[in-house]
Amino acid sequence: MPCTTSLCLLLLLLLVLASSTLGAPARKPRQKLLLVSFDGFRWDYDRDVDTPNLDEMAKDGVKAAYVTPPYLTVTSPSHFTLLTGRYIENHGVIHNMWFNTTTTEKKPYYQTQFVNEWWDNGTLPIWITAQRQGLKAGSLHFPGTASSYQGQVAMVREVEPQPYNYKDETLWRQNSDKVMGWFRDEDLDFVSLYFGEPDGTGHRYGPDSPERREMVKQVDRAVGYIRRSADKHGLTDRLNIIITSDHGMTTVLRKGLVDEITLYKIPGFSFSDVSFHLVDYGPSGMLLPKPGRLEKVYAALKDAHPHLHVYKKEDMPESLHFSKNDRILPIILWADPGYLINGYFPVQFNKGEHGFNNQEMDMKAFFRAVGPAFNKNLEVGPFETVNIYPLMCHILGIQPEVNDGHLNATKHMLVNGAATRAADVNSMQDVFTGLAAVSGFLVVLFIAMISHRVLTKTRNNKRLGSSEHHPEEKEEETKQTSF
Ligand SMILES: *[C@@H]1O[C@H](CO)[C@@H](O)[C@H](O)[C@H]1NC(C)=O
Ligand SMILES: *[C@@H]1O[C@H](CO)[C@@H](O)[C@H](O)[C@H]1NC(C)=O
Ligand SMILES: *[C@@H]1O[C@H](CO)[C@@H](O)[C@H](O)[C@H]1NC(C)=O
Ligand SMILES: [Zn+2]
Repeated sequence: MPCTTSLCLLLLLLLVLASSTLGAPARKPRQKLLLVSFDGFRWDYDRDVDTPNLDEMAKDGVKAAYVTPPYLTVTSPSHFTLLTGRYIENHGVIHNMWFNTTTTEKKPYYQTQFVNEWWDNGTLPIWITAQRQGLKAGSLHFPGTASSYQGQVAMVREVEPQPYNYKDETLWRQNSDKVMGWFRDEDLDFVSLYFGEPDGTGHRYGPDSPERREMVKQVDRAVGYIRRSADKHGLTDRLNIIITSDHGMTTVLRKGLVDEITLYKIPGFSFSDVSFHLVDYGPSGMLLPKPGRLEKVYAALKDAHPHLHVYKKEDMPESLHFSKNDRILPIILWADPGYLINGYFPVQFNKGEHGFNNQEMDMKAFFRAVGPAFNKNLEVGPFETVNIYPLMCHILGIQPEVNDGHLNATKHMLVNGAATRAADVNSMQDVFTGLAAVSGFLVVLFIAMISHRVLTKTRNNKRLGSSEHHPEEKEEETKQTSF
């Protein structure tokens, strides 16, 4: 009898093994993903410049009419939305500059990269989520790279030194080759790659300048270089490339043409009524009035200038998603396109600016994607950049964190079923393995009970036949019946 039980178990083991082996479909290699951002690449920058490489990418993949960045349309907040799928009020990186309203200390863009608490405010960027689910992630120069999140960092990362020449095309090629090396040699699954142009040139010379058009040609060459580098590294079949941006750019209207906004000159407004201000930073501003002075400050500014919008934090239009965060100050200011918000006197000399309402067409960014997950030669309508995160998680086959995007806004870009299948293969296999384990367990249970019955019967029969008493058998019986 014990012999038969072992046989049963052996058979069972074989059965379970067979079922899980047969059930596992041949696992396709996981698809990789490169997210590239060209800072400040407005949605229509390819319209007045020859862009053969961007055109070829559109033919081989997907092009969106444009994408809508989150408000505030500035670099660090908008890039963190790309990495998290959350609106700015929800991820907490509400400005390029870290600030402390008590000490009135501010840190500029680059130094803010290293203020860990500024970035690590409860929302995980995709690198960390991917790594927690067994993938390997990297980042080169992407805003947020320098920080750690709940103690973790992107496993391969590079932060640009300072000063850094964001325009150097040779460095662009080296950086492109470097991340392709990470994909091939370190088998990374996801990398984010950042280029500081055409933002710098757009600021300095304006979006309508010949300098900006030249820079767009350089971006176009970089796009061609990235794709060729992927090819040379043997990655084309497995690598998806998304190229997008954080915001657009618009021309600043200067004195003589327009009535500039300078807070100091506004009747009834006084800087002595605010304990902290964040202005002289493009078209947006935030004020912290001193205790009891909020209404006074608000009333003075409210209708002071036809192109200045003044909101109490709680009255901000919900569509901007820039209100529900403790870091956002009680009074929010923004200017219409072309206008800047100055404090005491104009100190801003850029010919181009961003930071305006994200509904303004000049703030929209471009979006292109190519690779095995994406349809070819497909033009799609506009969508918000919060939706890029769930798309990326889907391609990588990872479970997204809570976010403000929806896959249904972007999934029509994907090869009919292909990327879905890649992700589904994984989950289907998990389901199957789970089922096999459960049914295996049930069969074991069943067989154990049957053999127990048979054994007990035999023993009882034996007992009936003999008067020998086996105490250990008795013990075994009680154990077995206590399932
Ligand atoms: C701001 O500075 C004050 C005084 O040093 C400090 O108590 C506070 O924690 C700081 N707040 C932030 C957000 O860093
Ligand atoms: C986010 O930052 C604010 C201060 O700016 C802090 O009060 C809050 O605790 C932080 N939340 C998390 C989850 O880190
Ligand atoms: C996507 O799904 C969300 C939530 O289910 C819904 O609110 C939204 O309207 C959908 N969008 C599209 C384009 O179907
Ligand atoms: Zn930017």
